[in-house]
Amino acid sequence: MPITTCVFDAYGTLFDVAAAARQAASEPAFVAIKDTWPQLAEHWRLKQLQYTWLRAISDAHTDFWTVTQDGLDWALEKMGLGHDAALRTRLLALYWELSAYDEVPAMLKALKAGGMHTAILSNGSPRMLEGAVSSAGIGDVLDVCLSVESVGIFKPDTRVYDLVTAHFGCPKDEVLFVSSNGWDAAGASGHGFETAWVNRAGEPMDRLPWKPQHVLSDLTTIPQLAGL
Ligand code: LAC
Repeated sequence: MPITTCVFDAYGTLFDVAAAARQAASEPAFVAIKDTWPQLAEHWRLKQLQYTWLRAISDAHTDFWTVTQDGLDWALEKMGLGHDAALRTRLLALYWELSAYDEVPAMLKALKAGGMHTAILSNGSPRMLEGAVSSAGIGDVLDVCLSVESVGIFKPDTRVYDLVTAHFGCPKDEVLFVSSNGWDAAGASGHGFETAWVNRAGEPMDRLPWKPQHVLSDLTTIPQLAGL
């Protein structure tokens, strides 16, 4: 079936999750992370994701903002920065205004110009997604932001991916799902979507029962992949 609907993961895919730590590290008040911010960002992201999986399998859902704060608290303590309340506050504020990757606005515009449906499907809460979309200025090229909050469980639970076909009323094989998270692209493949994994960092492929059909280094070729 031809692709009619392009759906994007948010954090790490459209929005650069390392941007918060990178920005704080460039500010005089936070010289403490001038050289170590990449490790802080990595610990933060990894713990944030681990907490989503652990909460999903233990039936202890909470919203993504809570696990984002919990992940940061773990990461700050790990880096010996657990006492730095000002840094914590600044990093959390920056998370609401993460920059989009450079190619995102033009890529989404090309999809809309080609008549595609476009959406975000994210663990993020509706308020977090609203903040990120509006600060990146991409609201007019997205049809909808679908949040896991409407089903109360995180990715890769199959109920999350079902939100797409329920919203657009289209078959699964008309959906191109795009994620920078290998496990998310794999889960969406298992669900029946066509998938693209955006592997900016050249990571090895996740060893899971499903594989993405496409592996890209950034988002510029998504319109071609969608058949435009
Ligand atoms: C999201 C996380 C997984 O946006 O990046 O759903």
